[in-house]
Amino acid sequence: MKNLPQPYKIKSIEPIQLLSFEQRFNALAKVGFNPFLLRSDDVYIDLLTDSGTGAMSQEQWSALMLGDESYAGSRSYYKLEQAVHYIFNYQYTIPTHQGRGAEQILFPALINKMRNEKGGDKAVFISNYHFDTTAAHVELNDAKAINVVCEQAHQLSDPYDWKGNFDIPLLLKTINTQGPENIAAIIITITCNSMGGQPVSMENMRSVYEIAREFDIPVVMDAARFAENAFFIRQRDPFYQTTSIDEIVYHMFEYADIFTMSAKKDAMVNIGGLCCFKDNEALYREVQTLCIPMEGFATYGGLAGRDMEALAVGLYESINLEYLTARIEQVERLNNKLAEAGIPVQTPSGGHAVFIDAKALLPDIPADQFPGHALAIALYLEAGIRSAEIGSLLLGRDPQTGIQKTSPTELLRLAIPRRTYTNEHIDYVAESVIKVAQRKQEIPGYRFTYEPQVLRHFLAEFEAVA
Ligand code: F0G
Repeated sequence: MKNLPQPYKIKSIEPIQLLSFEQRFNALAKVGFNPFLLRSDDVYIDLLTDSGTGAMSQEQWSALMLGDESYAGSRSYYKLEQAVHYIFNYQYTIPTHQGRGAEQILFPALINKMRNEKGGDKAVFISNYHFDTTAAHVELNDAKAINVVCEQAHQLSDPYDWKGNFDIPLLLKTINTQGPENIAAIIITITCNSMGGQPVSMENMRSVYEIAREFDIPVVMDAARFAENAFFIRQRDPFYQTTSIDEIVYHMFEYADIFTMSAKKDAMVNIGGLCCFKDNEALYREVQTLCIPMEGFATYGGLAGRDMEALAVGLYESINLEYLTARIEQVERLNNKLAEAGIPVQTPSGGHAVFIDAKALLPDIPADQFPGHALAIALYLEAGIRSAEIGSLLLGRDPQTGIQKTSPTELLRLAIPRRTYTNEHIDYVAESVIKVAQRKQEIPGYRFTYEPQVLRHFLAEFEAVA
């Protein structure tokens, strides 16, 4: 099976074009050297995110026509509910406009539940690693987000297979120091996006769930990349090597009570999300109630009927082994080409992105001049490729002192959209990164010319430090 080409061919194309160096420089200068602010027409290969950027299949496109746009009780909703029941064995389904929509309606209900049932007065969420919007929704509810990812996750070149795992002793310690009555939920993020799309092992999920049972804490799966996680379990855990992806997914979701999902990733739709409950009807009803004012009526949650149709089909496609094999191999292909050329990359590669260690590649650029961002700029100027920094720029300032925090790692994320680019595009990306690395001493650091107060990396503007 290894290294077969993609199990699909191209039926519909979207033209892309590479601007000249001068055009690229002008485009970037116009937006203050922030790739987030570029027009997509100025980008040749867009590796900013794998979210909502995947290519839908002919089955998904044709399903759009079947969309039932009834305000309530849409047929398309019931198809989606059926897919969730079949794949995850969860009884209750609420569609949402995307992942953060699910977070915004679920978290207040979890905090209420904790207060009513256990009388806790603080509210704490513990995760292997909260994604940015997940942490933001925790904090918007005056709760605290604590990450307890395993130590190996921070060692970029440690070949450990399960860098998304919880540090179990640390999880127990955190529950005890915060007080079990104050823990609103434990969130298992699969794969662990913030740690490079690294998987969580089945055994780790089981331990987390057992601990949660012991302390009567609900477990939420943040399931944006659930199928990629299942693939890694099949690939790396000897016990599951002959188990089907369907069965692995089924077992994974036994170790949670609820899942939220950004369906823009593994489920391969351009917009959509889910908030689903294994069997807790009371909690489901409370979240349903919050859904109506915030997302929309409980059988559409911010989606059109056609979006729910495409999502139901995408869920089934996401767990296809041939597709997943080609998907993960494409990401590995890029990682291997870079590693072979001596570029410091995270190993093993994660499911959806390649992470370049910008601190190791550009050791002369200090953290407050953002080596990951500097590399993103250099890569766009070299080849029209857009990517995103994950480091001190993303981390921001200490809210009390205003001092720039220093991230333990300075990374450049090359996120690979699903089914979108060919291996030739991927090889072009590898060659371009290698070219950039060959003239790394010419790459300057960057400082702000405009710095917004919150979520600054999206809208900030910069200039090169001479
Ligand atoms: N959870 C995880 C693990 C995510 O990666 C994301 C989004 C979300 C929740 C929020 O979902 O965007 O549909 O509202 N991650 C994107 C990314 C944006 O680029 O990694 P959303």
